Amino acid sequence: MDDRLAEEVVDAINAVSGVHPGHRAAHARGTVVAGRFEATPAARALTRAPHMQGAAHRVTVRFSNGGGDPAVPDYATEGRGMAVKVYLPDGRRTDMVALSLPAFFARTPEDFLEFTRARRPDPATGQPDLERLGAWLGAHPEAGPTIQAAVSAEPPASYATCAYNGIHSFRWVNEQGEGRYVRFRWEPEAGVETLAAEEARARGAAYLQDEIVTRAGAAFTLVVTLAAAGDPVEDPTVAWPDGRDRVEVGRLELGGPDTERERDGDVLVFDPTRVVEGIELSEDPILRFRPRAYSVSVERRSGIAR
Ligand code: HEM
Repeated sequence: MDDRLAEEVVDAINAVSGVHPGHRAAHARGTVVAGRFEATPAARALTRAPHMQGAAHRVTVRFSNGGGDPAVPDYATEGRGMAVKVYLPDGRRTDMVALSLPAFFARTPEDFLEFTRARRPDPATGQPDLERLGAWLGAHPEAGPTIQAAVSAEPPASYATCAYNGIHSFRWVNEQGEGRYVRFRWEPEAGVETLAAEEARARGAAYLQDEIVTRAGAAFTLVVTLAAAGDPVEDPTVAWPDGRDRVEVGRLELGGPDTERERDGDVLVFDPTRVVEGIELSEDPILRFRPRAYSVSVERRSGIAR
């Protein structure tokens, strides 16, 4: 099916970051590691999802930098990604895809498209049109906090010292049929640690990629925040206020490099809408749109239509 909006969005990202055959249109630079995920007993009270019942599950985790140019060095200022694929015993998979930013800058795919087009560098100067960008930001104050966080974030000491937010709301439904809206977050057991810009640069262009494969044993706690009445569940630009109930629902431990995925033509795709029973999608338009844009990127990078 020709999905015009999704094609236009990927074209707009390409116009900012360039076309890099074989690479993801966004989050082009990253590294895949193996790991295992185990839910806590508290998870089962919130959801009947099979991977949240307590048994250990094999996972593939891809850590990435947000940009679409795989040659941009690791010390650049940008958001980072953590994408997790859980392998279920019956052969199914479920994905959780998160960012190091507290929220997202766009409320709708159309806003994403407009902003990304506004970022396109002027072919004559190579610089973005600051007037156009400023006008967009003026008309979209909801984007301010996330963009501020993205442009001021210090580079991480390691992918294992970032916290990553799922940003979208999902409805978790337990065995009794009781549903709650939640947002998830991966918190590093090692604590959050960043580097001054010069220190990151001194570690070299690939310091994040090279280091993460050595971090077997590093771990993240999976925490869900429960929505209170009236919290927006469809707007990814709004972080929920502090003070909401938080529940530790799992632990993910990294192994070494993943020796199976993304080799010998294997195509690895993380899709935040690939959920299982006990986890339902909210109506957030960005969440609903993401698989459409990802499919275009996957088809262009692998030749495989999804
Ligand atoms: C309209 C909004 C968005 C668009 C158009 C978009 C676009 C993309 C594209 C084209 C890719 C490459 C897909 C592939 O080739 O497999 C990608 C990857 C990714 N996106 Fe998004 N994205 C959006 C929102 C988000 C949000 C809200 C998050 C986090 C909550 C996010 C996190 C990621 C991560 C972590 C990856 C890398 C996945 C991997 O390692 O394979 N994106 N995005």
